[in-house]
Amino acid sequence: MKKIIIAIDGFSSTGKSTLAKQLAKELGYVYVDTGAMYRAVTYFAMQNHWVFEEYLDKEQVVQNLNKVQLRFQFNDALGFAEMYLNGENVEKEIRTLEVSQKVSRIAEISEVRAKLVQQQQEMGQDKGIVMDGRDIGTVVFPEAELKIFMTASAETRAERRYKELLEKGQTVTYEEVLENVEQRDYIDTHREDSPLVQAEDAVVIDNSDLTREEQFAKVMELVKQKIS
Ligand code: DC
Repeated sequence: MKKIIIAIDGFSSTGKSTLAKQLAKELGYVYVDTGAMYRAVTYFAMQNHWVFEEYLDKEQVVQNLNKVQLRFQFNDALGFAEMYLNGENVEKEIRTLEVSQKVSRIAEISEVRAKLVQQQQEMGQDKGIVMDGRDIGTVVFPEAELKIFMTASAETRAERRYKELLEKGQTVTYEEVLENVEQRDYIDTHREDSPLVQAEDAVVIDNSDLTREEQFAKVMELVKQKIS
């Protein structure tokens, strides 16, 4: 069976990673969460006090990018790869609302994008990969055999993210999460370098009213057409 590249893009909290993980498991493919890479760079900048809500020392971030070593390591118990920043497992640290509130600023920096895009392209060299993000079908792999663009209403997405954060024991309000979702949508779609746009040849999935199972079945149909 032919090995392909599956690119999944879309707004934040549309369930891209849930779908991507399901597909990777079913197909025996590698799953790469590119958002985790932008989050890890953000966490690195936060530790060094180069990024706050209203402040970003872009120069410092760019000058020190060579000190950022990112690696995914598969965790058998969890069934997916965790993010390591300079040898340290930062999977938990990069998922906080604090990181979510700053990550779009870091993702606007062209030098950051160039470095991460290059790494992502290397990871996909042998195909057999499911990658999710914002620019996978447009910039990282414009030649990907299957491109999915995921969307859902901001309220649906905020509700899902709010529940997730509560389950992780974080103290947040629904309003804060909705504000963050809307703010990230705005920045992600308006930035100069590689804004979030739907690739012309992407299949749009609006999952506001779809269950995970329905969504998975729909996308697996598309995958089968491509690999057979
Ligand atoms: O998918 P996520 O919410 O974990 O992504 C975090 C942020 O990283 C998101 O607000 C935009 C940015 N991002 C990006 O610009 N390009 C990607 N390929 C992936 C994420």
